[in-house]
Amino acid sequence: MAILDGISAGDLMDPQNGGISYDDFILLPGHIDFHHQEVDLSTRVSKRIKLNLPFVSSPMDTVTENEMAIKLALLGGLGVIHYNNSVEEQAEEIRKVKRFENGFITAPVVLGPDATLADVDRIKERYGFSGIPITEGGEASGRLVGIVTNRDVEFEPDRSRPLREVMTTEVVTAPAGITLQEANDHLRRSKKGKLPLVDGKGRLVSLISRRDLLKNRDYPEAIKNERKQLRVGAAVSTRDADRERVAALVEAGVDLIVIDAAQGDSIYEIRLLEWMKQEFGDRVDVMGGNVVTRAQARRLIEAGADGLRIGMGPGSICTTQGTMAVGRAQATAVFNTALEAREHDVPILADGGISQIGHIAKALALGASAVMMGYMFAGTEEAPGEYFYDNGIRLKRYRGMASIEAMAAGGDKRYMTRADDRKVKVAQGVSGSVLDKGPLDLYVPYLVQGLRQSLQDMGVKGVSVLHEALIGETLRFERRTHAAQIEGGVHGLYNYSESGLGMRG
Ligand code: IMP
Repeated sequence: MAILDGISAGDLMDPQNGGISYDDFILLPGHIDFHHQEVDLSTRVSKRIKLNLPFVSSPMDTVTENEMAIKLALLGGLGVIHYNNSVEEQAEEIRKVKRFENGFITAPVVLGPDATLADVDRIKERYGFSGIPITEGGEASGRLVGIVTNRDVEFEPDRSRPLREVMTTEVVTAPAGITLQEANDHLRRSKKGKLPLVDGKGRLVSLISRRDLLKNRDYPEAIKNERKQLRVGAAVSTRDADRERVAALVEAGVDLIVIDAAQGDSIYEIRLLEWMKQEFGDRVDVMGGNVVTRAQARRLIEAGADGLRIGMGPGSICTTQGTMAVGRAQATAVFNTALEAREHDVPILADGGISQIGHIAKALALGASAVMMGYMFAGTEEAPGEYFYDNGIRLKRYRGMASIEAMAAGGDKRYMTRADDRKVKVAQGVSGSVLDKGPLDLYVPYLVQGLRQSLQDMGVKGVSVLHEALIGETLRFERRTHAAQIEGGVHGLYNYSESGLGMRG
């Protein structure tokens, strides 16, 4: 018989002891008989959408727009585009992800033949390049009529001259639809700096650049649909007016729609969910939320949710629990809803309150299939917004969608259910800043390596094995007393430093 120390997750969550958060418990180590590289992090975010990494970025205007969504999908996770924008703007974000092809510039900067050399100077100053395709009328997907490169414009003293007089009209092009490898071969043979790709009617589709040639890396874990487009999610509110938004997002090719509500167990959400499943159920998966109790989870599952988003109040920028007196400690919320959802084979996403790798591992160990993170991804290069310095420290802004600042920009839809409530705004979040975390190409591999080692320490070889161990109660837990938490952190030193990527955030 196996000797089992510690307690099962069920015992850990005994309601008599109150709700607990990630830092209140620890996992006991298991037996290691495999390398951490063998740990399989593939999972599902919803019934039909598989991921290679259990990472999803929050629909917040300082976290997820197309750049974040593209890079996360390339690396194996998923981005959910926020809706603090117009329907058309959000749909365009989705289209940008869908158009993206690694190595191809799918939204190149273009000019028309009537633009001037001064316009080229401005683009060079802003983006640092001067190889610009010229299209009829200056439209992004217009007919290609020429190209302007440094050599065409360098020694020209009159900067008001129109480009039609200086551009190269004999442009070497390649047909759209060729592979990146073929396009790169073309570029090499042509000895040019830029290679425009055009469709059968001579219209510009994309561009590849010699400068990017060496930088292009392969993303074998990329999450794509059957048409080889990257997958992407988008959030919508429960308002009736957002049905139009849903239709536009589906039309743009979104894969997952996340109904964004702080308290998801409402008649508004259930009606929207049922409508979406009926209208678009064959084209998109729908994630319901947010919920934290079994009864809430059950109601959204019965209304057709393909996935559930769990959390009410644990977010780093969140003041919901203080203001509303309603919510739940996150570890308890994840475990209880996971039990309910498992009975219906619906994956759950642990949303909010993750500020270190160990929290990700703990969320998965309590039954979450993936985690949604705002704080962890804010401050990366791919998060919207510019870096700024404060006392020599490089920072980016990060704000709650129910902060006064974000609500003023239109982000209050998640927290109010009726249009006429909007005269009075009660904030449920704050705005602030976070440290620079660098590019996702470096940051995500760091998270992955840490998470793999964590699962290895538990003696489990992957997310699904972890869930089996949870249910089979071979995964053992222990509560951490206050003293145990102090003991488990750095203590007693006069000073210390921690280096490495994680510490940038
Ligand atoms: P974080 O990863 O701990 O920063 O939490 C991010 C999560 O907080 C998001 O995915 C949302 O669920 C939630 N959230 C976003 N904005 C607000 C807010 O203003 N108030 C409360 N919760 C928020």
